[in-house]
Amino acid sequence: MQKHKKILVTRRWPEAVEHKLMNLNADVTLNLTDEPLSATGLVQALEQYDIICPTVTDILTADIFARCDRVRTRLLANFGVGINHIDLAAARANDVAVTNTPGVLTDATAEIALTLMLMSARRCGEGERHLRAGEWNGWRPTHMLSAQVTGKRLGIVGMGRIGTALARKAYHGLGMTILYTKRTPAPAPVVEELQAQHLPLDNLLAQADFVSLNCPATAETRHLINAAALSKMPQHAHLINTARGDVVDEKALAKALQKGDIAGAGLDVYADEPKVDTALLNLSQVVLLPHMGSGTVETREAMGMCALENVRRHLADEPLQDRVRYN
Ligand code: DGY
Repeated sequence: MQKHKKILVTRRWPEAVEHKLMNLNADVTLNLTDEPLSATGLVQALEQYDIICPTVTDILTADIFARCDRVRTRLLANFGVGINHIDLAAARANDVAVTNTPGVLTDATAEIALTLMLMSARRCGEGERHLRAGEWNGWRPTHMLSAQVTGKRLGIVGMGRIGTALARKAYHGLGMTILYTKRTPAPAPVVEELQAQHLPLDNLLAQADFVSLNCPATAETRHLINAAALSKMPQHAHLINTARGDVVDEKALAKALQKGDIAGAGLDVYADEPKVDTALLNLSQVVLLPHMGSGTVETREAMGMCALENVRRHLADEPLQDRVRYN
């Protein structure tokens, strides 16, 4: 008789999904403490489990794969769409398939990008801290003035699913003009619906009042927003990042904000999570959220169900639904 496949889920998942996982015809190990795995824990997991369900906190580098005596894992069913924490070349070399959860977190993440844009422009973080500190002494015409968002220009770097969802909310909800960068132009119906202008990055940075990063983290996009890029943005502009911390040179961003080269920033992701650069923490004109983009009950359940479906298909020897192409 064939032995049950061993599955490891590296963090707590929404209860409904964990319940379904436990009903799979497999030997499932949940992480009841929710402690992230150490590097050694990840090596052991690759040696001992047929399937691992990792997430963004599991940094599966080439070195982790290289430290294994033998990689037993055949599937990494990632909980999340971003897979920059997995060395895909090492996964391929070790014959490990990788899946992610595209599509289901589009609106939730676009909502957080929109929230950050509004919070940064309208100084909402500052305002809330001011009130809670007991510093508010009443309404006055010149108190905490900020920038209006309605009707301004939004530049979207990476017009994929999330970028497009954000563009829709901004165009239809706030009457914003949509500029975007993308390797190839967006589909004609999208361009027509949003009157969106396809621009090279430098032109977008120079023209947009708000720049939202919605591109994947790759070798090409690492520090895409560096000192040179920031210097192209107008002084009243705001930078929003819900993609990955690596896309921004955080030191250069802190400097640009300190010098007043740009007006503000709204960040949900950081290069070395959960650490946040002290220079950014000390700046009042930056809104800082703890990687909450996909964090709605509905979305996290949908992400779990999506990862679960990839696991189910692997167990049933069916084609994987969300296989990441890595060659
Ligand atoms: C994603 O799905 O990539 C989110 O950022 C969580 O990792």
